[in-house]
Amino acid sequence: MRLKDKVAVITGAAQGIGRAYSLRFAAEGAAVALLDKRIEQAQMVEREIQRSGGRALAIGCDVTDEQEMADVARRVHQHLGRIDALINNAALYYDIDLADTSIAYGRKVMDVNVFGVLIASWAVVPYMMRQRSGSIINISSNAAWPGIAARGAKLSTVSEDNVRRAYYYGLSKAAVVHLTQAMAIDFGAYGIRVNTLVPGVVLSEATKKALPEQFMEALRQQALLGTLMQPEDVVGTAVFLASDDSRLMTSQVLVIDAGRKLW
Ligand SMILES: NC(=O)c1ccc[n+]([C@@H]2O[C@H](COP(=O)([O-])OP(=O)(O)OC[C@H]3O[C@@H](n4cnc5c(N)ncnc54)[C@H](O)[C@@H]3O)[C@@H](O)[C@H]2O)c1
Repeated sequence: MRLKDKVAVITGAAQGIGRAYSLRFAAEGAAVALLDKRIEQAQMVEREIQRSGGRALAIGCDVTDEQEMADVARRVHQHLGRIDALINNAALYYDIDLADTSIAYGRKVMDVNVFGVLIASWAVVPYMMRQRSGSIINISSNAAWPGIAARGAKLSTVSEDNVRRAYYYGLSKAAVVHLTQAMAIDFGAYGIRVNTLVPGVVLSEATKKALPEQFMEALRQQALLGTLMQPEDVVGTAVFLASDDSRLMTSQVLVIDAGRKLW
């Protein structure tokens, strides 16, 4: 067990890749706090983990609410005793509004995907500082690279709407890379590591809803490894980043995309 006795906070834990991180972290021995605005779904993940003998605590919250997140971090620390890792996974993705391309919508995407990362990190950092250790894992996307986002939007359907959404999502995920490096500089002296995971397209509820089948097939063909990715394909790298095996790694960007970034 690579995360024995560790406590991990995972945002957006109710479904998709967040659920996969949660199940695997628990299987690796971590106690996991499952944060999501979808509390009932998060509680289902909590029960699933408890049934297999793991420790989990589901908490309903909105990562963009600073006061609420400070309370959540206090609750996690009270119940689970420490905070070793945070996965900033929650994002506006499944909830993406395919009809709304307004700037106001773009601001909403930035609020959850960027400020949510900052707010959740600031909530747990005081506990990590006291421990003088911690690992923050931010989730970007290969859509942070404009060429990938633009090609993705074109493949998806050639419409201005998609291009606009690619701007919003790509911009937010590029900002996550910036935040990672800024926080790594800021918190390094306290033993807190901050790294970014960059998944390519993963077959989650979100992508199945948002992306047409021919887009998926094109992706599969363009991947150097000739495969599409499942949520479980990215979790091992998160386990590594949360574990002591990566204790001297910070400010890094790790891409997992079956080789698509290179096409
Ligand atoms: N699926 C992919 O292909 C892919 C690729 C690259 C990166 N990512 C990133 O991986 C992460 C997970 O992706 P997914 O496909 O599982 O997404 P998803 O939309 O299925 O899950 C996101 C979760 O975050 C929660 N959430 C959203 N806003 C929230 C808020 N304000 N407060 C609390 N919880 C909130 C949702 O309820 C949901 O459970 C996201 O950061 C996404 O951008 C996904």
